[in-house]
Amino acid sequence: MRPLTKLALAGLLAMASSALAAGGDPQRGAQLAMQGDGSGAPCLACHGADGAGNDAAGFPRLAGLDADYLAKQMLDYNAGKRVSPIMQPNIDNFDEQQLRDLAAYYASLPAPASAAPANVSDAQLALGRKLATEGDWDTYIPPCSSCHGPGNRGVGHSFPALAGQHPSYIRAQLQAWQNNQRNNDPNQLMTAIAERLTAQQIDAVAAYLGSLSATAE
Ligand code: HEC
Ligand code: HEC
Repeated sequence: MRPLTKLALAGLLAMASSALAAGGDPQRGAQLAMQGDGSGAPCLACHGADGAGNDAAGFPRLAGLDADYLAKQMLDYNAGKRVSPIMQPNIDNFDEQQLRDLAAYYASLPAPASAAPANVSDAQLALGRKLATEGDWDTYIPPCSSCHGPGNRGVGHSFPALAGQHPSYIRAQLQAWQNNQRNNDPNQLMTAIAERLTAQQIDAVAAYLGSLSATAE
């Protein structure tokens, strides 16, 4: 790992540990996921009964992601720090405890094996693998795994798992950072990286990450 990344990591972890709050109740969360928040749709309408999401529709997998990460994202939607007119209306009537219950529920579900993207060339996968595991130092792009962990399977509550996440969703998030639609990353760690990625690199890294197993072999 390069010194710069290490430094950013240390600062972020210190920040994140102080922000960690109380946990949620997965059983109450399961109920809320079925019911919805009264005005929006129930979660499973989009994220699926198993929390596996849907690549064609761009709905992220939630199953097996870290609970505090999921809770932070929902709090950020409701605070307007992350913008999605499709997602936010489904949680705007929930309070923080209810969001933590939902997060605990999805974190407790087993992660699906892999998002197995179709129609991806070997060259594209190779480019994606290089970015994910080695980075591109000519354009100051650190390897994704330097933050997202071994196999890009995520680290704690700050660095979400990317392995096995749907390529359409990964692509959309990288574009959201480029277009200033997502601003909720601590220290703008992701903004700085997304800004430097080309459209071709985004397609490749999204396809490669989606093809990885979400669980350690
Ligand atoms: C109408 C479809 C729809 C429904 C219903 C829905 N979501 Fe979502 N959800 C989305 C979409 C689309 C995104 C990605 C939005 C974006 O780009 O930020 C998303 C993103 C999320 C994220 C962020 C995931 C990540 O990895 O950062 C969480 C957490 C989440 N949804 C939880 C829920 C919960 C809990 C419910 C039920 C209370 C729910 N969603 C209902 C469509 C939906
Ligand atoms: C310097 C650390 C760092 C590096 C390197 C890094 N990321 Fe991230 N990434 C983060 C952080 C922190 C978040 C969570 C942001 C938040 O809390 O909203 C994140 C979130 C994401 C998300 C959103 C996942 C979700 O579930 O919503 C995607 C997609 C992503 N990163 C892709 C990448 C890709 C692709 C690379 C490599 C090209 C990469 N990241 C490299 C720190 C990093």
